[in-house]
Amino acid sequence: MEHTGQHAKRDGFSSGFGVLAATLGSAVGLGNIWKFPYLTGANGGASFLLVYVIATLLVALPVMIAEIALGRKAKANPITALQTLAPGRLPWWLIGASGMLAAFLILSFYSEVVAWVFAYVAKSVAGSVLSSDRAVTEAAFGTLISDPVQSLVWQWVVLLSMGGILLLGVAKGIEALTKKLMPLLFLLLVLLCAVSLSLEKAADGLAFLFNPDFGKLTGGVVLTALGLAFFKLSIGMGTMMTYGSYFRDDQDIPATAMRVMSADLCVSLLAGIAIFPAVFTFGFEPAAGPALVFITIPAVFAQIPMGQALMVVFFVLTAIAATGATLSLMEVPVLIIQERFGLPRRKATGVTLGLLALTGSTCALTNSTLAGVTLFGMNLFDLFDFVSSNLLLPAGGIFIALFVGWVWGLDSFRQALSNEGRLRNDRLAYMVYFLLRFVSPLLILVVMLKGLNLI
Ligand code: PHE
Repeated sequence: MEHTGQHAKRDGFSSGFGVLAATLGSAVGLGNIWKFPYLTGANGGASFLLVYVIATLLVALPVMIAEIALGRKAKANPITALQTLAPGRLPWWLIGASGMLAAFLILSFYSEVVAWVFAYVAKSVAGSVLSSDRAVTEAAFGTLISDPVQSLVWQWVVLLSMGGILLLGVAKGIEALTKKLMPLLFLLLVLLCAVSLSLEKAADGLAFLFNPDFGKLTGGVVLTALGLAFFKLSIGMGTMMTYGSYFRDDQDIPATAMRVMSADLCVSLLAGIAIFPAVFTFGFEPAAGPALVFITIPAVFAQIPMGQALMVVFFVLTAIAATGATLSLMEVPVLIIQERFGLPRRKATGVTLGLLALTGSTCALTNSTLAGVTLFGMNLFDLFDFVSSNLLLPAGGIFIALFVGWVWGLDSFRQALSNEGRLRNDRLAYMVYFLLRFVSPLLILVVMLKGLNLI
């Protein structure tokens, strides 16, 4: 059904389980399997993990609940939603606009990492990356990212497949797929952990992941952990507001958010446990950066029977997990364009993809054609990541928290969380409200100022 969102009935998730699957599908993605391990590795291991968990509980979870509640109340894209809920003079809708910008910045590099995953599916079929020789896996990854043609073509393959799925309809296409395949990814990760834990220097890997060294915690590291918490739960940019607008009226919002948060954390930890023992056993560098997963995972698979076939399965499942997250990122601009400009979904998707092919190519070519191009000391790939995760998402979080805490108000918030009085969760609502009104905005602000060396 084609609808412009103005008068037609709005699309929405079909069942309670569907809501959970889609929301979890947005949260779980490359953030868990690619970003979490490499950031943990580069920022000192356990101490980073600890700050990340605290940021998730005190800041990200309340903001997630707030975003979903706002979206469900307004039943519109983030810009319209904030205009409806805040008819006053302050331009709260800018949160939605900044979310759209963040979506493009994130998608530009995210789609390139998905491209690497797609390429690794092909490479694992060909058997060219499977090895526990560090030199071999590093060279394989290096060749891929420094080849402009491969990098671009794989990115286009990703963008086109995502566009195709979006057109099929999120609920029936991806929601159905992720619901079936996510458990499989989970199982495969558990298997990988078992293999990794049997490696010679497994204990060193675990110690790195679980023994904190607080000397490594600088303001910048804390800001990165906070940014990761936002990125992981897809918040601060309107994704959860958009998904909230598809939530059913009888859905228990805080319970859903808590389940998503816990499952998401589990997947990240499993990825960490699968990777760090291998890092120490095979002499990789924990601080290898974005390459980390792509060079270590093949080494783990090289240790087990049927490793090649299982590696194919692993990258296919990772691609599927990344797909759910990518679609939720794209849904923000698509819905905004659709509802604000009254365009059919097909055209809104086309416009989004066209823009993405342009902005995304800068990230695809970062390690080849544009290798020398830097801004503020970062290449474009890292810059887009930094600006979105460490600036736009936390800033979005501040304003969402302030909006709920000071403008929308306790009564509206309580009503929304209790499904208009049908659920008994008043105490929880007070607690989350208190966090949103005072704790989260202040904490985010201090971490941002400190992380940017402004205080
Ligand atoms: N949470 C997703 C992941 O971990 C990424 C994402 C960020 C999705 C922001 C939507 C919005 O991979």
